[in-house]
Amino acid sequence: MTHLYKSVPIRSYEITPRDAYLSRRDFMKAATIAGGAALLAACAPAPTAEENPQNAESGPTSSATDELGDPVNSYEDITNYNNYYEFTVNKQQVADMAQGFTVSPWTVEVGGLVNNPKTFGIEDLLKLFPQEERIYRLRCVEAWSMVIPWEGFALASLLEMVEPTSDAKYVRFETVHRPEEMPGQKSPFYPWPYQEGLRLDEAMNELAFLATGLYGEPNVPQNGAPIRLVVPWKYGFKSIKSIVKIELVSEMPATLWNDIASNEYGFYANVNPAVDHPRWSQASERRIGELSRRATLPFNGYGEQVAALYDGMDLSVDY
Ligand code: MTE
Repeated sequence: MTHLYKSVPIRSYEITPRDAYLSRRDFMKAATIAGGAALLAACAPAPTAEENPQNAESGPTSSATDELGDPVNSYEDITNYNNYYEFTVNKQQVADMAQGFTVSPWTVEVGGLVNNPKTFGIEDLLKLFPQEERIYRLRCVEAWSMVIPWEGFALASLLEMVEPTSDAKYVRFETVHRPEEMPGQKSPFYPWPYQEGLRLDEAMNELAFLATGLYGEPNVPQNGAPIRLVVPWKYGFKSIKSIVKIELVSEMPATLWNDIASNEYGFYANVNPAVDHPRWSQASERRIGELSRRATLPFNGYGEQVAALYDGMDLSVDY
């Protein structure tokens, strides 16, 4: 069973060395500025790098696939098509606006109903927990998806270290609140800071992952540097970015999207093609880089590993 989610290793020769890609990036930037086409393109929604190779600035490359045989998305797409409302609601502007965001020093406070509460520096987490690679599908609630080669460690390893007490039933996560660096946090429309939650048994599932890197590189701000959650069987909004606090609690915690529209964004948010979003179908999705839509898989294709967590529940009610 485990082979279904175990990552497919990216071999080092498949990844362009960082120096080479950085210099190629600079070259491509210069080339784009020199060509007048850049001015026109700025007025239209930017196609993704996959759709328009001219848009690609290159980056580390990989020929790895997920366990279903689908190739990983390009580094350019993964780092230039983002949801991160603390910066902007415009997916193609997040990368620019997040540039220079302070990711060091960084601490993650882990506490609440635990025997060993502890505040970890990001460097402690990197040392304490061997970093492994996981190639996961990310399915956004907006019906687009990507395949992403993450690096990081199982959330369960961190939770085991702090020893949840028997009263702990849920895990609550919180993103940094830093409006001076994150202009979106000045918007009074959203109940900042972004918060998310999992049931404790979901959090202990081997698939739940804390990602510190991407494509063999440290995480970049637009993808949630320095550390973010990845819950591959749930809609992407559960995968909270730039975490500063993890708290074990006894009651189901509030979550940002559920606070805003509970009829549209449930607490569980398991990827489910049989339950539509009130405003659009969830039966299919657009894989970034592909032209035709593909069918959405129950639990985003991870049912074998996680379906048992929901035995006896009606997932059209607990959506
Ligand atoms: N975390 C925070 N703090 N703020 C956000 O706006 N967006 C979520 C999730 N985590 C979001 C967040 C949504 S809707 C998605 S689809 C994923 O991040 C996108 O992750 P990516 O940009 O790394 O692909």
